[in-house]
Amino acid sequence: MNSKIANLLNEQINKEFYSAYLYLDMANYYGEQHLDGYANYYMIQAQEERDHALLFMKYMQNNGLKVTLEAIGKPDKTFDSILSPLEIAAEHERYVTALINAIYREAHVDGDYRTMKFLDWFVDEQMEEEESADKMIAQYKLFGQDPRGLYLLNQEYAGRVYTAPSLVL
Ligand code: FEO
Repeated sequence: MNSKIANLLNEQINKEFYSAYLYLDMANYYGEQHLDGYANYYMIQAQEERDHALLFMKYMQNNGLKVTLEAIGKPDKTFDSILSPLEIAAEHERYVTALINAIYREAHVDGDYRTMKFLDWFVDEQMEEEESADKMIAQYKLFGQDPRGLYLLNQEYAGRVYTAPSLVL
């Protein structure tokens, strides 16, 4: 495999772990606000991001590439309202989509169809991630400023359960 693609895949492992860390930070923030449903939602989001990191790692290993784990950056976002983590999450997912697209572009240029096929799952996943993040913002703006509405939203997010990724390598 082209070393540029291998490096991007390796970097993506770190980006996905950083995403997990960022969502854990959001879960902690909501936990501190006693919004346990929102906290649950982001705890599960963190688990999904860890899964993404492991999928990139496994793909590299399956292709005989050396994996180098780098230090995970400290979550450096400031949350100053119930809405702000939701907006930061949506912005972050758009950034991750750009990262996935950049790897895809390299794979396409290089004729690396195997990596393109692997990344197809992430292209679909990012569409879902952006959609879910935008929906949480919309729901908060519609219902969340009313205490009863917020209570119900929090209950809804408390019901989110972890499911393992559908992609198996
Ligand atoms: Fe791993 Fe939320 O993208």
